[in-house]
Formats: sequence, structure tokens, C-alpha cells
Amino acid sequence: MTYRSALVTGASKGIGAAISAALVGEGLTVYALGRSEAPLAELASRLGDRLRPVVADVRDHAAIATALEGVEIDVLVNNAGGLSSVRPLHEQTAEETEEVVTLNLTAPLQLIRMLLPGMIARRVGHIFNLTSTAASSVFPGTTAYGAAKAGLSQAGRVLRYDLAGRGVRLTEIAPGRVESQFYLQAFDGDAAGLQERMYTHQRPLRPEDVAAVLVCALNLPPHADVAELTVSPTDQASGGHVYPVFPVSPA
Ligand SMILES: NC(=O)c1ccc[n+]([C@@H]2O[C@H](COP(=O)([O-])OP(=O)(O)OC[C@H]3O[C@@H](n4cnc5c(N)ncnc54)[C@H](OP(=O)(O)O)[C@@H]3O)[C@@H](O)[C@H]2O)c1
Repeated sequence: MTYRSALVTGASKGIGAAISAALVGEGLTVYALGRSEAPLAELASRLGDRLRPVVADVRDHAAIATALEGVEIDVLVNNAGGLSSVRPLHEQTAEETEEVVTLNLTAPLQLIRMLLPGMIARRVGHIFNLTSTAASSVFPGTTAYGAAKAGLSQAGRVLRYDLAGRGVRLTEIAPGRVESQFYLQAFDGDAAGLQERMYTHQRPLRPEDVAAVLVCALNLPPHADVAELTVSPTDQASGGHVYPVFPVSPA
């Protein structure tokens, strides 16, 4: 493994926690960033001293720069993201719209800007941007979220041009539906309702599936860069909420 260290944002649960565990398993020291101290401490006690919690808001890039002063980050996983509601733009507050764009687009760009000079100087680096199938397909009620993820997706394409020849790879991973607490706030904290509506009657991806895909891309030899990856549940129609239930044919 060429890489020694990683910064994973949104590491306290869901996909970010699974990616952090997978990267520790690959031998990296992982700086695991999130706002909630307790789950990060729990992750550290489970994974050992190669998991270093960084308690910060991902939008506060100045605080993150201070926390990581003197640390060389080889792999940046821009995973923190979210939405607080699923409803049309005109029913959102101004603050909600702003927050969704800052969290899902501005914050990852600021971290890339911050960490790229070191990666380029060392000619070692791999950036992963977690977008979504919502970046390229229509999911009702996600205008700001879809726009922010599409923005991050396009930013990655442009950056890959700027980075060509500099030894830094960039991979976009666009997941379909993954079982996590991603929609919990949009469901007003109703965990049972979320489970019933989103995950009980279909087979969603698990956070570990996304982590496995990331590790595959990371483990390719340095001259090979997976630019874009879409990973969806087998039962999720591409770009939609349709989950056809086909009867299992008798053997
Ligand atoms: N789940 C899905 O179906 C799905 C599908 C496509 C794409 N994605 C993308 O995958 C990524 C991870 O989603 P997930 O399903 O794992 O969501 P999740 O279970 O809700 O976890 C989100 C993570 O982001 C952190 N986070 C949120 N706001 C933050 C902030 N302001 N500063 C720092 N950390 C923050 C949370 O930690 P704290 O609350 O402790 O800060 C948590 O660790 C997101 O970018 C999401 O858009 C998810």
C-alpha cells in the first residue's frame, strides 16, 4: 500500500465509519472526522490507535487545518453529507438550502483545496468524493442536495484534468440506497418508520459494500485511476425508486 494516512469525514457512523474501519484494516492511520465525540471514541476503542478521532464540523476548514497541523494526509475521503428534509425547494428555509449546499459541496472543495498542495508535493494522493445517484438522476424533493452532489461530481471531472501527471488520483463514488441513518432527520427521528419504509421491503446496500468498493479502487496500482463508480442495490432501478419484486422461480 502506497498510502499511510487518510482523512475520512463523516466517520462517526454509516458509510464513513465502515470506510474508516476498512482503511485501518488496510494498514492506514485514519483521521476520523465528525461532530459527535462519543461514537468516534467508540470507533477508536474498537479499531485501536490507528483510528484518530477529529471532532469538528466539516464546514469549519480552518479548525480542521489546525487539528491536522503537521499531519500528512495521503487519502482524503469526502464522505460527510446529508439533507435535513425531503421536500420541494420552495418549502425549505433559506438556512436549510444554504446548509445542504455548504455541507455537500463547499466543505469537500475546501478540504481538497487544503490537502492537495501536500499530496502534489509528495506525488502521493487519492481523493474520494462520495456523491450519489441523485447527482445524475431525479429524486423528488432533493433540489439543493442533487445540485450540490452534481456540483461535486463535475468538480471531480475538472480536477482530474488539473491533476493529470501530478501523481494524485481522484475517484467519485456514487451510491444508490444504503442502509444508514441518512434519512433519519427527514423522517423526524422516526427510526422504525424509516426502517419500514426504506429498508425492510428492499435489499439496500450496506455501508460495508461502499467501503469494499473504495478499497478496490485504492488498491489498484498507482498508474490506474478509477474516475467514477456507481454502486446500486441490485434491486434498485437505476435513477428511480422502483424496486420490482419478481417471484423466485422454482428450482
Ligand atoms: N445512505 C444513502 O442511501 C446514501 C446514498 C447516496 C449517497 N450517500 C452519501 O454518502 C455519504 C454518507 O452517508 P451516510 O448514509 O453514511 O449518512 P449518515 O449515516 O447520516 O452519516 C453521516 C455522517 O456525516 C457526519 N456529518 C454530518 N454533518 C456533518 C458536519 N456538518 N460536520 C461533520 N460531520 C458531519 C455525521 O456525523 P456527526 O453527526 O457526528 O457529525 C455522520 O458521521 C453522504 O455524503 C451521503 O450524501 C448516502
